[in-house]
Amino acid sequence: MAQAHRVEANGASIPAIGLGTFKMTGETCERAVAQALACGYRHIDTARMYDNEAAVGAGLKAGGVPREEVFVTTKVWWEDIAPGDLERSAEASLKRLGLSQVDLLLIHWPNAAVPVARSTAALCAAKRAGLARHIGVSNYTVALLDEAVGAANEPLVTNQVEYHPYLDQSRLKSAIRRHGMAMTSYRPLGGSDILDDPTLASIAEAHGRQASQIVLRWHVQQPGIVAIPKSGTPERIRHNIEVFDFALTDDEMARISALARPEGRMVKPSFAPRWDEAA
Ligand SMILES: NC(=O)c1ccc[n+]([C@@H]2O[C@H](COP(=O)([O-])OP(=O)(O)OC[C@H]3O[C@@H](n4cnc5c(N)ncnc54)[C@H](OP(=O)(O)O)[C@@H]3O)[C@@H](O)[C@H]2O)c1
Repeated sequence: MAQAHRVEANGASIPAIGLGTFKMTGETCERAVAQALACGYRHIDTARMYDNEAAVGAGLKAGGVPREEVFVTTKVWWEDIAPGDLERSAEASLKRLGLSQVDLLLIHWPNAAVPVARSTAALCAAKRAGLARHIGVSNYTVALLDEAVGAANEPLVTNQVEYHPYLDQSRLKSAIRRHGMAMTSYRPLGGSDILDDPTLASIAEAHGRQASQIVLRWHVQQPGIVAIPKSGTPERIRHNIEVFDFALTDDEMARISALARPEGRMVKPSFAPRWDEAA
C-alpha cells in the first residue's frame, strides 16, 4: 500500500497526496473515497460547493480507517464567509460529513465584498470553537494572503491554488513559503492536454511510469507542496498515489517547470480575484 510523505506547515501535518472529489457525488464519490483509503490515501478534499459531503462521510465510514488517521478538508463557499455565515456553513458541513471536526477548513475563494479582516476573524473563530483543527485559504493572491496572515490570530496552514506544469506559480509559492505554509495544488494534473505533452511522455518512458505519475511526482518533490488529484477510476486512484518510490532528477524537474506558459491558467470563474502575474 502506497504511503504519502507529510508536509509540515504551521503545526499541521498534511499527507502530500490527497483525493480531490470535485464533480463526484453519491455512490461514485462514496466508493472513490473508500477505495482511496484502501490504497493508502489519508487525505480527502471536499467542499460545501461540491454537494458531496454526505457521500464523502459515507466513504470515510465504509473505508474503516480510524478517524484520527485521515486528514479531511472542507471549504466554505465565498458567499458564506462573513462572520456568522461562515460558522453556520462549517457546522452544516460537519453534520453532512458526520464528523465533529474537520482537519482543515478553508475559505474557498475570497469575496471582494467581505473585508479580509472580517472573513479571517470568522475563520479563526471557527477554529477556536473547535470546528476545525487547522484553517487556511484557497485562491488567495500574494496581497490577499499577506493581508489574511496579518489579520489572523490563529496560524493559516495552506493556500489551495491551481498549480500544474503549464502554470507558473513561483511568486505565490515564495509568499506561501515565507509564511511557513503549505501550497496545496488543485487541478494538479492539468487536464488531458498536459498529460499528452511530449516532454512528460519522454520522462515517463525513462522511468517506466505514466505521465500522470510524473506530474504528481513533480508536485510532491517540491518542498511544501501537497497535491489533490481527483479520480473516480479505481486504477487511476491507485496509480495517483504510487509516486513515492521513485525520484525525478533536477534536470527533469527543471524541464517540467519550463513547460509553464502565460495562458496556462484553467480555472477562471467570474468571481476570481485579479491573479498575480508570473514571477
Ligand atoms: N479550491 C478550488 O477552488 C478548487 C478548484 C478546482 C479543484 N479543486 C480540488 O482539486 C481537486 C483536483 O482538481 P480537478 O479535479 O479540477 O483536476 P485534476 O485532479 O487535475 O484532474 C481530474 C481529471 O483527471 C482525470 N484523471 C485523474 N487521474 C488520472 C490519471 N492517472 N490519468 C489520466 N487521467 C486522470 C480524472 O478523470 P476520472 O475521474 O474519470 O479518472 C479527471 O477528469 C478537485 O477534485 C477538488 O477537490 C479545488
